[in-house]
Amino acid sequence: MSDVVLEARHVSKYYKLGTETIKAVDNVSLKLRRGDFVFIVGPSGSGKTTLLDMFGALSHPSKGEIIIHGKKLKEFNDFQLSMFRRKHIGFIFQTFNLIPTLNALENVLVPLVPQGYSKEDVKRARDLLVEVGLSHRIMNRPNQLSGGERQRVALARAFINQPKIILADEPTGNLDSKKGWEIFQYLRKLNKEKGVTFLIVTHDIEYIKKGDTVYKMKDGKLSRKSTLT
Ligand SMILES: Nc1ncnc2c1ncn2[C@@H]1O[C@H](COP(=O)(O)OP(=O)(O)OP(=O)(O)O)[C@@H](O)[C@H]1O
Ligand SMILES: [Mg+2]
Repeated sequence: MSDVVLEARHVSKYYKLGTETIKAVDNVSLKLRRGDFVFIVGPSGSGKTTLLDMFGALSHPSKGEIIIHGKKLKEFNDFQLSMFRRKHIGFIFQTFNLIPTLNALENVLVPLVPQGYSKEDVKRARDLLVEVGLSHRIMNRPNQLSGGERQRVALARAFINQPKIILADEPTGNLDSKKGWEIFQYLRKLNKEKGVTFLIVTHDIEYIKKGDTVYKMKDGKLSRKSTLT
């Protein structure tokens, strides 16, 4: 069996604004294998979030196709797509997308709501919050948390379903360097011990290690960067 977990074939995304067409993502092809730890860097507006959203089945490509665990996303209807996404993909949003009326623990449990969750799941959600350093903030709602703390709730939520693929859009964007390192240590541990595949958009190149795969996005195009030395 192939160990490719996510494949993009000639994926483009166009936005129409009046008479202008913006090529936010322009003919991107990419393969991610089990256990890959891959970064995407690139300037603001280059299409990184647009690309990640399509990989996370949150929006559809204008052209091309995305295949995850051997399944073509365009063959799913919206309901199937949302079930598939919940089961297989952990998504960390640039803007966190936490639900303001729920506390940290409830936010982490959100992806489990459709199928229902058990006491063990609640314990796991707590453990995840402890693991990301939020043991003292479990009952706080997002507006009672700092930006960095919200980000860590969003991280814990991405892990709750134990997905094999995690897509992260600036996962350390609001964290100081020490907290950022802790988060990356945790991501790398999941990657090493559980073979979770990571695709991470970041501006913080300090977290990129020698040997990591790095792609650069520019004007919607993706190119492989020789790894940092
Ligand atoms: N819904 C939309 N409608 C029209 N244009 C959009 C839309 N979403 C994004 N764009 C445009 O597409 C391009 C890519 O945006 P995207 O959010 O993917 O950039 P990015 O690389 O994630 O930037 P950043 O580093 O600032 O987060 C930008 O020019 C943006 O203005
Ligand atoms: Mg972005």
